[in-house]
Amino acid sequence: MKRIKIFDTTLRDGEQSPGCSMNLQEKLEVAQCLERLRVDVIEAGFAIASPGDFESVQSVARTIKDCTVASLARATKKDIDTAWEAVKEAADPRIHLFLATSPLHMEYKLKMTPEEVLERTAEMTAYAKRYTSNVEFSAEDATRSDPEFLAKIVRAAIRAGATVVNLPDTVGYTTPAEMQALIAYVLEQVEEAHEIELSVHCHNDLGMAVANSLAGVLGGATQIECTINGIGERAGNTSMEEAVMAIRTRADVYDAATNIDTTQIYRASKTVYDIIGQSAPLNKPIVGKNAFLHESGIHQHGVLANKKTYEILTPESVGVRVNSIVLGKHSGKHAVESQLRQMGYDLTPEELVRCFEEFKVLCDKKKVITDADLEALVSHNTRATESEDGYKLDWFAVHTSNFTTATATISLKRGDERFEEVCLGDGPIDAACLAIDKIIQPEPHSFEILNIKSISEGKDTLGDVNIRLSAHGRSFSGHGLSTDIMEASILAYLEAANRLMAYTKRHKEEE
Ligand code: KIV
Ligand code: ZN
Repeated sequence: MKRIKIFDTTLRDGEQSPGCSMNLQEKLEVAQCLERLRVDVIEAGFAIASPGDFESVQSVARTIKDCTVASLARATKKDIDTAWEAVKEAADPRIHLFLATSPLHMEYKLKMTPEEVLERTAEMTAYAKRYTSNVEFSAEDATRSDPEFLAKIVRAAIRAGATVVNLPDTVGYTTPAEMQALIAYVLEQVEEAHEIELSVHCHNDLGMAVANSLAGVLGGATQIECTINGIGERAGNTSMEEAVMAIRTRADVYDAATNIDTTQIYRASKTVYDIIGQSAPLNKPIVGKNAFLHESGIHQHGVLANKKTYEILTPESVGVRVNSIVLGKHSGKHAVESQLRQMGYDLTPEELVRCFEEFKVLCDKKKVITDADLEALVSHNTRATESEDGYKLDWFAVHTSNFTTATATISLKRGDERFEEVCLGDGPIDAACLAIDKIIQPEPHSFEILNIKSISEGKDTLGDVNIRLSAHGRSFSGHGLSTDIMEASILAYLEAANRLMAYTKRHKEEE
């Protein structure tokens, strides 16, 4: 069986798409999920894009020990220098440079002739190679390039030192048969291509990213570039969970295996959805809520007789727990700890104490605590630590009706001080945010996202609110968790505003 490397670009191609931006702490959380999944490569960002991107690539490079960490770079010396500066402290750093090779991109975007592109490919790959032996070259828009020219590019990149050559379907245009043929053609034309990793990177504009990536594997590709939940530019990238589970479930067809710990898939998917404030569509393969449900009588009958009648992969294989014990107010710390362990969470004693305290508070509001509730408490706790010395909610009161203007009174505390303000607003959330702004006076910002979702079922469900503010060209997010949706919204806004304040303060000190 051949081994397919998984190159994850959630933090670069995924994160750069609208609505998917993440702050530093969130990127590190995703990187840790990827390490637990055992992906081969984490593309941590595009270091030259902004100082914030540089900082996050560098932080991921310093934190991750068990995966290669890559930064993207255009084929210029400055980009490559910056990419190297950002990844050089990684346990296994990679520079990933790219240059477009299709007639359209060369003429209109690069304004370069094919000969110049060929020369730049060799020159810049060799330049990156001076820094590290681990260099990847991507021929952007490869699937709309002239195959003969593409073969020349691949040869030039390998001769200049590339150890991975990637052939992206940048605009999601190709078909499975074409992708398989293209990879096979390159392997046939370029002898050296057998000695390196040949990679595919597909976009989902026509809904074929996963199929095209898998076809690439059939053609001889040994690396798939993908993202968690398929997030990415426009219609997204190849979804890692779908590609990995297809290879595993149909090993007979692909004659291949990945190194992914598939039991970590559900957790990673949920973390990414929570961070970007979205949920999996119900029918999303592998991670959607309905992916393992059998509603029709005929299917239920079959599954009861033998699971394999309608089930080609098990929920357990992707980390979805079925028939788990529900906890309640009589459950002790050990029961909570053991449940968390089975869910794959290994908390420090301090984290466990904090989580158990919140668990007890929740038990007073909700009869049964499900895995989803526990998961929400844990991830909320992990993310909340950053704003510990900011303002905290003391109490709030809101009044709203369909015939008066909403009013919110907010009391915040910081250390021993207490602050109180009242505001009218266009609805209770607006009134509460205005009252908070009056107290803490954050920098001018725009309100990007307000997402409210229920964690489990029932009217007493926990509500998870995600608010994202934008200022200084960055986004600052906050999560709030409560059975009271107003309280969750206030907590989320406060966390985002605290983060914005902390950033502004740090920035002023640096100046
Ligand atoms: O889609 C694409 O072509 C890319 C490259 C930069 C690898 O993301
Ligand atoms: Zn891409």
